[in-house]
Amino acid sequence: MEVKTISVIGVGPMGSGIVQVAAASGYNVIACEINDDLLKKGVASIFKNLDKLASKEKITAAEAEAIKGRIKTTTTLEDTAKAELIIEAATESVPIKKQIYSALDKVITPDTIIASNTSSISITELASHTARPAKFIGMHFFNPVPVMKLLEIIVGHNTSDDTLKTAQAVGDKMKKVTVICKDKAGFIVSRLLDLYLNESIQLYDEGIATKEDIDNGMIYGCNYPMGPLALVDLVGADVLLAVMDVLYREFGDPKYRPAPLLRKMVRAGKLGRKTGEGFYKY
Ligand code: 3HC
Repeated sequence: MEVKTISVIGVGPMGSGIVQVAAASGYNVIACEINDDLLKKGVASIFKNLDKLASKEKITAAEAEAIKGRIKTTTTLEDTAKAELIIEAATESVPIKKQIYSALDKVITPDTIIASNTSSISITELASHTARPAKFIGMHFFNPVPVMKLLEIIVGHNTSDDTLKTAQAVGDKMKKVTVICKDKAGFIVSRLLDLYLNESIQLYDEGIATKEDIDNGMIYGCNYPMGPLALVDLVGADVLLAVMDVLYREFGDPKYRPAPLLRKMVRAGKLGRKTGEGFYKY
């Protein structure tokens, strides 16, 4: 199926990045949020990024304006139905996602594909909450979406070949490197990365080293672009906790137990960059 319009549900750090990349790749985009404040915040961050790219002469001012012009916004879920592909980038919560899918099923055509940007929840499970399991797939982007080259595509138990081909074609048009993964908790990247991030929090909590030394250990010892605690702040402690909870529940293996300090930070609202404080202050 040819995709011309992509709807993105949720314009937090991930959703806004997906909107930007989709519009920059020539798609018409409908960006949807639950209220005007969140919508304005998400769109403002996209426009700021585009203006920055133009000021650094990575794109022309005219290109930036054309990309902005391809983005429509709404706070009404029904408006997203005009797209051939809907990418859901809402909170990592099955009840919230389920609510979105049942509302979508009432207004979208049988051909419309729904993709979830979930970082760990089973695609087969999410698909079971829709009336279109064959037209449901995982499209997992990475933060910051305009910079990170990967698109992890997760094939659910009932995902059709046609749906997979469409998701791959969209990834190609977005100039992402796509990897394909079967549906198992955490897929490829979250299963590996989040275990490492969780362990770095445990190590910090044990007082083994300062946060700066833990981060520098991985930056200078392993050539990682940033240290694990700074990366937790980028990803969001709430997002990491949601993934660890899924991994722990799905595998029942104690190695996936969320670090107690991670849970404490989420309870304290220290989620990282998006709340102005996590392991570091922003
Ligand atoms: N949005 C858009 N562009 C951004 C950006 C953002 N939020 N943050 C940085 N950039 C751009 C900068 O403008 C700069 O562009 P330029 O080269 O054209 O000037 C470029 O990225 C490099 O940025 P900086 O020079 O400011 O800083 P760094 O070189 O340290 O790079 C980084 C920043 C790209 C974030 C790098 O540190 C990095 O790659 N970190 C690891 C990120 C990572 O692992 N992400 C995956 C997280 S897991 C995930 O997302 C899963 C999900 O489910 C939660």
